Order: sequence, then C-alpha cells, then structure tokens
Amino acid sequence: MFTWEFAADPYPAYAWLREHAPVHRTELPSGVEAWLVTRYTEARQALADGRLSKNPVHHSESAHGKGKVGIPGERSANLMTHLLNIDPPDHTRLRRLVSKAFTPRRVAAFAPRVQELTDHLIDRFAAKGEADLIHEFAFPLPIYAICDLLGVPREDQDDFRDWAGMMIRHGGGPRGGVARSVKKMRGYLAELIHRKRETLGATAEADEDLISGLIRASDHGEHLTENEVAAMAFILLFAGFETTVNLIGNGLYALLRHPAQRELLQKSITAGDTDLLTTGIEELLRYDGPVELATWRFATQELTLGGQRIAKGDPVLVVLAAADRDPARFTEPDVLDLTRRDNQHLGYGHGIHYCLGAPLARLEGQAALATLLTRLPDLRLAAEPDALRWRGGLIMRGLRSLPVEFSPER
Ligand code: HEM
Repeated sequence: MFTWEFAADPYPAYAWLREHAPVHRTELPSGVEAWLVTRYTEARQALADGRLSKNPVHHSESAHGKGKVGIPGERSANLMTHLLNIDPPDHTRLRRLVSKAFTPRRVAAFAPRVQELTDHLIDRFAAKGEADLIHEFAFPLPIYAICDLLGVPREDQDDFRDWAGMMIRHGGGPRGGVARSVKKMRGYLAELIHRKRETLGATAEADEDLISGLIRASDHGEHLTENEVAAMAFILLFAGFETTVNLIGNGLYALLRHPAQRELLQKSITAGDTDLLTTGIEELLRYDGPVELATWRFATQELTLGGQRIAKGDPVLVVLAAADRDPARFTEPDVLDLTRRDNQHLGYGHGIHYCLGAPLARLEGQAALATLLTRLPDLRLAAEPDALRWRGGLIMRGLRSLPVEFSPER
C-alpha cells in the first residue's frame, strides 16, 4: 500500500481485505499502526461512532506501532484546531457557526462565477487541440474558486496556488517545503482576516465574502476568534482543494474509459437534461472517489468493530474507496453506472463530520464535466492508461496528469 503502483488500482486488494480481513491492523510507512475498515456496514458505523475521536491527543503510542500521528510543521500552530480534528461540543459550536456563513444560498449564488472560471480555463487551451487536464484545468479551478469564495484578492491567488501545489506535491514527502508553505499561508491568512475585520461594515452583508461572513457569524452571542476564522479558512482551502481536483480528474478519466456512459451523459447534457449529470457525479464519487481514506479517528475507549477488539488509543482509518465497492451494499459495484439511483455512497463521509463543502464540490464537478464535454465533444485520452501516474499516499487518490487530445475549438 501507499506506493503509486498500488494507487493505480487499489480495488483488488480492497476486495481481498473486505472478504478476509474487513477490520485489519497494518503498519503505515510512517511506522504508525492503524486499523483499516473496508466493509460498508462497519465503515458507516465507524464514521458515526462517538467513541472514535478526531482529536490526535487520543492517539496513544502505548499499544502498537512506533510513530505518532502528526501534521507536518503544525505542532505549535492553531490552524490545526479545525473541524476535522475536534469533537463535540467544540465541533458542534464551530460547525454551527461556519454553517451560518457557508450557506447553500451563498454556494448557489456562486454558480455564475464557477461557470465563468471554467470557461476561462478552457479558453486558454481550447485552440491547442491538446492539454493536460490536471495541470491546466482540474488543479486551478478549485483553488481559484475557493479563493474567490473566501475573499482572497485576485492578485494574491497565484501565491495560494503555489502553496497549495506544494502541499499536494509533497503531502507525504519532504516536510520542509510543506511546513514553509503552511507557515506562509498562515501568516497571509492572519493578515487578511485582520484587514477584513477592520473594514467590516463597509460592505453590505449580502455582498460580503466568506471570511467576512465567518467574522460576522454569531450564535447565542458567540463569535469565532481570529484564530478560529484562520483555521476555518485553512480547512476550507485544504479540504476543498485536492478533493475537487481529484473529483474532476478521476471523474473525467472514468468517463474517457467508459465511452458508452460518456456518450449517454454527453447526449443528455446537450439535450439540456441535468438529471444524469446529477446522478452521474454521485456515481463517479462512488466508483473512483477523491478521498480514498477518511481522516484519522482514535478510540477513546476499548471497542469492538467487525469482531475485532480495538484498544483505547488505537488509530482507525475508514477506507471509503473499499466501502463504496462493497457488493453487500451496491449491485455490481465494479460497474460504472451513471444512472445508479440506490447510491448512498460514503465519498463525502457520514455522521457529524459529513463534508461541509459537498454543495460546492457538486457545483464545481458539474460545471467542469458538463462544460468540457460540450465544448470539446471529441475529447480523448492521449496516453496509454498504464503510462498514467497516480498520486497515492494517505487520504487522497488522484492522477498526477491527464493528457488529452481533441479537435481544436475555432
Ligand atoms: C469533510 C470529502 C469537497 C470542506 C469531508 C469528509 C469527506 C469529504 C470524506 C469527511 C472526512 C472524515 O470524516 O474523516 C470531500 C469530497 C469533495 C469535498 C469527495 C469533493 C468532491 C469539499 C469542499 C469543501 C470541503 C469543496 C469546502 C470548500 C470540508 C470540510 C470538512 C469536510 C470543512 C470537515 C467537516 C467536519 O469535520 O465537520 N469532505 N470533500 N470539502 N469537507 Fe469535504
């Protein structure tokens, strides 16, 4: 596991685990020992189990394994006290506050901007007849989108792009560069939030960006502190970036490899019908989702899962990619069927940490796929699938590049 060869096709190994060792202890490259949960029923159960904490302080070294779960360069920083690392009641309070700012209405109002960005990115390569859809499309779209939504000024967005690129490229590798990028991002966000707080009131509430919305959000007289706003902005960037890159990348790749499904989708989009696009995005998330493993969980007490005894302090990793191919839950799980309706996949997680950004991800995914398939209708892969490289490592799974050809747009 955790090599690019494994990342190219982890599904046979996951099928084996589901059948023979559905809750399985393994040593990760970092030396940390963790339980992998691969069946749908146990995966869903673990995601909603209050005895499994998100806070790394509950990770104990006593039981097994050598290392300790940590985040590169972030020991001292409070950017890490964000939603995915905390439990109720803190989680409940922060999630309620952010939900007041990150509303479905705000996301829906953002649709024209996402469409404009999508078209603008395609304009840049449409006349060339070839492109790398990861570098030229899937990568820039979410970072510019989330920067715009947060209210990062356009002239600073390329810096964000570079820092985020560093985090993606070296997420599991050399820590120095990642730590420096996180530090720069932290410094920048602190300053931006400070500036926005000073000018708050100058804009009408309805026009303001998400950072201002976060500063203003209040619940029973409670507000987010500056640090909490920074941590929230950081997790929105971090959780909303590589995930969406992979949704677009993995999704396009799956479509290019399944011509009949792609043709069906193309026809329905051209006919102005969005039903198949809606069920299709969910199916692409189930079939080859961006998030291979949900983020860390730690047992706060001894518990039993799938017949295995999990000791207090043990880390648990829920393998979403395995659960979403479980034949006990999905009919013909290895078949891509964009019309699939009984599709309660775990691609966005489950329980109190269910993805906060799902509406934005759907919006971006739909705009990206629909626009590409209509503007470049004869899009095709320009490399043998075996030659493509996947980014594996913990948590995410996606392509490093996706070379395509098409008739140039005139
Ligand atoms: C949580 C998937 C896009 C923000 C999660 C979780 C998953 C997930 C699986 C739960 C992790 C766990 O329980 O360990 C995805 C996928 C996306 C996507 C597949 C794209 C296709 C986004 C976007 C944003 C976002 C665009 C925001 C802009 C968040 C946040 C959380 C989260 C803040 C933490 C919620 C909490 O702990 O309460 N996401 N995500 N995600 N996601 Fe997403």
